[in-house]
Amino acid sequence: MTQRTALVTGGTGGIGTAIVRYLAKQGHRVATNYRDEAKAEAWRQKMAKDGIEVCMVPGDVADPTSCEDMINAVHHKCGPVDILVNNAGITRDTTFHKMTYQQWMDVVNTNLNACFNVTRPVIEDMRTRKWGRIVQISSINGQKGQYGQANYAAAKAGMHGFTISLAQENARFGITVNTVSPGYVATDMVMAVPEEVREKIVVQIPVGRLGKPEEIAHAVAFFTTDEASWITGANLAINGGHYMGW
Ligand code: CAA
Repeated sequence: MTQRTALVTGGTGGIGTAIVRYLAKQGHRVATNYRDEAKAEAWRQKMAKDGIEVCMVPGDVADPTSCEDMINAVHHKCGPVDILVNNAGITRDTTFHKMTYQQWMDVVNTNLNACFNVTRPVIEDMRTRKWGRIVQISSINGQKGQYGQANYAAAKAGMHGFTISLAQENARFGITVNTVSPGYVATDMVMAVPEEVREKIVVQIPVGRLGKPEEIAHAVAFFTTDEASWITGANLAINGGHYMGW
């Protein structure tokens, strides 16, 4: 397999870590961004103990200027980005009638505007080199909506709108753009949902359990292969059967 440079935003998080591991095990050079240097360094050392060297760059996906610096830093340290996984995301769950403007903006900036901030500085280079793989990590809740997540569901649905437009614009340049929409995966984000609420959610999952981060990483890695070059603009639901829209 050709060795590529992959940037996974939010790589230190639950699903992000699994994606970083998977792409690194496939032989790619993998980079991720961080905001908290001490936390990031502890995470990097843990990965290094497992034989995975990750290129760490500072960067806030919600801030366009920071993202330009972040992409330049990745380019400098490990070459131009061939594979971009827009994975960084946050929740600020509350019912809409109580939601503050700040809760709305934080989620839209980090989950959706980040797609502009991070992708804009890499796309021209990908077009010039005539190869690229871009994967958005959206959510089941962008597809079906969720009580308490008007901000998150709006941002996550927007990510797929971004995917299908970018896919059309860049198909002739060897660039594929796809979305993966995970359901409820056992990460800190999902474990932060109050237990009694979470239990009610898990019983709605036909497979009968939360997902594993590796199950998401596997699909992301598939989209990044040469063999997946005819798959673009797709939205792959990985949710244990929780939502079966088509
Ligand atoms: N459908 C109908 N009613 C619901 C409901 C639902 N799905 N969920 C909660 N309610 C009801 C409660 O039973 C309660 O009713 P009563 O007042 O009659 O007792 C009422 O709504 C609570 O309303 P509040 O206005 O008090 O709600 P709140 O502002 O405190 O918010 C909440 C509660 C934050 C929405 C909480 O229920 C919650 O955390 N829900 C889970 C949200 C969720 O699934 N988040 C996903 C996080 S993980 C993730 O996002 C990753 C991913 O991509 C999947």
